[in-house]
Amino acid sequence: MELHLFDASVYSSRRAKLKKSFTGNGLLLLPGNNECGMNYTDNQYPFRQDSSFLYFFGLDIAGLTGLVDLDSGDDFIAGEELTVDDMVWTGPMPSLSELGNRVDCSKIISPGELQEKIAAAIASKRVIHLLPQYRGENQVKLAALLGCTIPALSGYYSEEFIDQVINLRQVKEEAELAEMEKAVNISNDMHLRALQFTRPGMKEYEVGAQIEAIAKSRNGRFAYPLIFTVNGETLHNHGQHNTILDGKLVLCDAGAENEMHYAGDLTRTFPASEKFTTRQKEIYEIVLGSMDHAISLLKPGTTYLDVHRAAAENITDGLKALGIMKGDTAAAVEAGAHALFFPHGLGHMIGLDVHDLEALGEDKVGYSTAIQRKKLFGWKSLRLAKELAEGFVLTVEPGIYFIPGLIDQWSAKKLHAEFINYESLDVYRDFGGIRIEDNYCITATGSRKLGAYLPKTVAEIEALRAGG
Ligand code: GLY
Repeated sequence: MELHLFDASVYSSRRAKLKKSFTGNGLLLLPGNNECGMNYTDNQYPFRQDSSFLYFFGLDIAGLTGLVDLDSGDDFIAGEELTVDDMVWTGPMPSLSELGNRVDCSKIISPGELQEKIAAAIASKRVIHLLPQYRGENQVKLAALLGCTIPALSGYYSEEFIDQVINLRQVKEEAELAEMEKAVNISNDMHLRALQFTRPGMKEYEVGAQIEAIAKSRNGRFAYPLIFTVNGETLHNHGQHNTILDGKLVLCDAGAENEMHYAGDLTRTFPASEKFTTRQKEIYEIVLGSMDHAISLLKPGTTYLDVHRAAAENITDGLKALGIMKGDTAAAVEAGAHALFFPHGLGHMIGLDVHDLEALGEDKVGYSTAIQRKKLFGWKSLRLAKELAEGFVLTVEPGIYFIPGLIDQWSAKKLHAEFINYESLDVYRDFGGIRIEDNYCITATGSRKLGAYLPKTVAEIEALRAGG
């Protein structure tokens, strides 16, 4: 088997930081993921390790559990050694001790020994800290280990464990940034392939296969299900059955996970034909202007809430210039009128997860005690709002969409009629949507784009579409 790992000391140093900053005591229980049957036990979905387990224990192998004893300072990996019988099916595997050495963890215990440690901890009333669990299989495994019901697991979910993991994982180390550059560069090539290969008359899935082939040819995979669609107004449109027709816009939201499991997340929107129509170009320029403005604001100390607001105001100004919106820009955005066209947030953290750390709670990673999530349509979908800090990596992804069902609903209610010229919207009903997205790292003084430049201006996109 082939394992992709950082230097062993990276993992022990992360665990040491976790132990040092933890104020509570007891045991930190960190289950890795198990294999998951697709239609019978031995025919499994592609394995994906849990990202927090990967961060602290590195091993991309199913069926392991990490244990950190905050009181003794010891770290353990629990797992079953493979037998020769198993290896008939899997091929030769290093022993767990050899694997432990690769992540600087010498204490290997069996599942039975883990069970004894947990039972002893419960008997002596030691605190056991868990992170929230998003997989049913892990909930079942942990409930059995802890001798509790599945609903009772939430009693073990530990605010401090969540906060400490977020504090560590959200600030990317140099070695992680190098991996993220690789993931974004694979993602770039996926987009270049889509931009150069797509022709009117093709099915969306034909291009989708080409995009996926680039990730696979670099020993990667999709970091999230591909969005490649002529109906870009549907934000997470995963169907790919449509024929790509001349005159339509094509929205490609595709990101690679590289072999170290870091994600890229990029979006480009391009004409099915070689050139944008005038109407498409006008809306595209607004989205691009809003993106560039947002990028210019990225720096430590700025809140992403303010960057989102600035992007939304920029979009509102652009739509006002086209006669689609009207009135006071700041008031329109504060009221949420812009969300008819820009109903999602400007971006999210990205790292080992494409929406990094959101398994631990979207508000936990994206908000702070100073900044609470708004409930208003559009604003409520902002995943990241808190103050930015050096080492954060995030997406910047403004968009403008014309969603017929939403337009009809708002128009019937005359919602925000002081800010929206509903009569102007008829010609945009079959427009679709435009989103443009890149990934940025917050530096000491501003930000740095990850990966090579991926064409995004109208002229650059049209040149690529024309075979340039
Ligand atoms: N790029 C897909 C997402 O952020 O959900």
